[in-house]
Formats: sequence, C-alpha cells, structure tokens
Amino acid sequence: MIVAIDGPAASGKGTLARRLAAHFNFAYLDTGLLYRAVGQAVLDAGGDPANADDAEAAARAMNPEALDDDRLRSDAAGNAASQVAAIEGVRDALLDFQRVFARLHPHERDGAVLDGRDIGTVVCPDAHVKLFVTADVEERARRRAAEFAARGAAVEFDQVLTDLKVRDARDAARAQAPLKPAADAHLLDTTDLDIEAAFEQARDIVDAAWSPD
Ligand code: DC
Repeated sequence: MIVAIDGPAASGKGTLARRLAAHFNFAYLDTGLLYRAVGQAVLDAGGDPANADDAEAAARAMNPEALDDDRLRSDAAGNAASQVAAIEGVRDALLDFQRVFARLHPHERDGAVLDGRDIGTVVCPDAHVKLFVTADVEERARRRAAEFAARGAAVEFDQVLTDLKVRDARDAARAQAPLKPAADAHLLDTTDLDIEAAFEQARDIVDAAWSPD
C-alpha cells in the first residue's frame, strides 16, 4: 500500500503524512528532506544551489544520515532545496532512493507514505492513494511563521509570505516534475480545517482504498 501526498510548502501535508503513517503503521518518507539535504550540502561546500554541477555532485553524494540535520528545517535550506529541485540531474539522482523506500516498506510496515511535490505524478504514479493537499498562501504563511516562532527563529510574516510565493512559483513552473495534482489525486484544502479534521478526511480516503467494500 503506497500513499502519495503532494502539495505546496506549509500546506499541512507533512503533518498529515506523519499522522497517517502512525495510524496505519506505514513507513514515512519526507522527500522534501532529501532536497533540503542536497541544498544544505551545496551551501556548506560554498557552492551555488542553482548551479547544476554543484547540485548534482551533492545529490549523488547524498546519504540518509544527512537527513537528521536540524538545519534542514531552516528557511535557507528550504530555499536552496527549491533551487536544486529544479535541476534534472538532482531529481534523477534522488529518484531511486524514493522508489526503493516506497517498495520495500522499511521496518516491516504494511505500507509507505511519501510526501513531496511529485510523488503521485512521477515517483509513485501507481500509488494506491494520492492526496493533493493545499491551503491559501496567507494561511500557509501564518502556519510557517508560527513554526519558526515555536523554534525560536524570529522570521517576519511578510518575509515568510514572500518566500512561500517565490518557492510555489518556482516549484510549479519548473520543467522537471513540476508541482501539480495527479489526475487521479483527491484534493484536500486545509485552509479552514484544523489538523484533526484534515487527518480524519485523509484517513477516510485511505480507509476507503484499503478496504474498497
Ligand atoms: O516540502 P519541503 O518544503 O521540505 O520541500 C523543499 C523543496 O524541495 C521544495 O521547495 C521543492 C522541493 N521538493 C521537490 O521538488 N520534490 C519533492 N518531492 C519534494 C520537495
């Protein structure tokens, strides 16, 4: 059982994916972390995240241990991730890791939940359930600003809003695997939903696919 969850930054897809994985005893992979780890590695090496050579070398050298770095949650890592993610060689280098994870269901789980931008369209086009999670950009900026504040990182709301709009535009406009709902995705708009209500809707959709009768 593979559940693919896509959507823009701060739409609530990560929280939903984690809740679904815990509820159904599925393995969980936050694929954004892979791109963040590549972006951070380029920054650490003093490279340019928009430079294909720098970014592809970092993507090929990426190892799963790099995913535990707290710095990957920062705005700088998110912006670098969005830049490296537009480079075809980077996406190719990360594709196998994601597909193997989905297929092997690590830790003997019953399935896997992957969240990102292109899981339902490119990484796992045969996923049993596809969700596309959205929310108004202002609401997403409020959530992201609250997350930063909770971690003690003071970032202005206007700055967060501007960054989200830039990232959304870049993620949706790129030629390779742009952010868009798969034709067979269930759309879930979380603008007016709290976490619990969004989880219940998503859980019902997965439940229906898990036991079709
Ligand atoms: O979900 P996130 O904010 O951690 O993702 C960071 C960036 O990585 C995002 O701006 C676009 C890119 N990304 C991607 O292109 N494809 C994915 N499957 C996941 C993330």
